[in-house]
Amino acid sequence: MAEYKKPDYLVLVNRDHKVPDNWLDTVEFVEAKNTIPEGVKLNENTRYLADQTFKLEKKTMEAFLALQAALKEEGITILIDSTYRSIQDQKDIWDLFERLRGIDYVRQYAAVPGTSEHHTGLAIDVCAVKDGRIINDNDEMIAEEELFSRIHKRLPEFGLILRGPKGKEDIIGYAAEPWHFRYVGVEAAKEMAEHDFVLEEYLDWKSRQ
Ligand code: DAL
Ligand code: ZN
Repeated sequence: MAEYKKPDYLVLVNRDHKVPDNWLDTVEFVEAKNTIPEGVKLNENTRYLADQTFKLEKKTMEAFLALQAALKEEGITILIDSTYRSIQDQKDIWDLFERLRGIDYVRQYAAVPGTSEHHTGLAIDVCAVKDGRIINDNDEMIAEEELFSRIHKRLPEFGLILRGPKGKEDIIGYAAEPWHFRYVGVEAAKEMAEHDFVLEEYLDWKSRQ
C-alpha cells in the first residue's frame, strides 16, 4: 500500500491557536464532488453543492464518506457543504456573512482568517437533504435538532467529532455549529464522546494523564 502523509490529527486550531506553520506540508489532500440525490432541485443558494470540488485530508475524506454511507442506510442524506479553505476563502466567507448578517453574527460563526479549522483540511461542514429539499441555511440546520442529533450519534465510530456542541460555546469561543465536524481519529473521538469533552477539554485532560 502506498504511504501517505499523516498530519497531527489532534492539532488544536481555535481563536488562540493559529494553524501551525508549514501545516500544509504534512497533509495529503483528496478531492470529491457531491452526488445530488435524484429529484432534488438546486437553486441559486444550493447550486455550489453540485458545482464545487471539495478538498479534504485523505483520512478525513474517508471518514466522511463512510459516515455518509452509514447514514444513508438510516435514511439520512448529508452532503458536503464546505471543506478545506485557504486564508483567502475564509476572508471571502467573513465578508459575505458580514454583508448578509452583520459583524456580531460573523464573530460568532466564522473564525478570523488564519484561525479556522477549515485551513487544516480536517474540518467539514455538512448540510442535509430532508423531504427532497436541501437544508443548508445555518438557522434551518439549527432548528433540525432531531435530525442532527441522529447524525451526531454516528460521528465517533468514524473518528469524527462535533467540534462545537451546544453548551460548550464558552470553551470553543463560537456559537454551537451542528454542521461542523472535525476528524481526530476513532480512539480520540470515542474517548471524547465517553467523557463529553470538546477538543480543548480532551487535550487538557490528556496532558494530565
Ligand atoms: N465556523 C468556524 C468557526 C470556522 O469558520 O472555522
Ligand atoms: Zn465549519
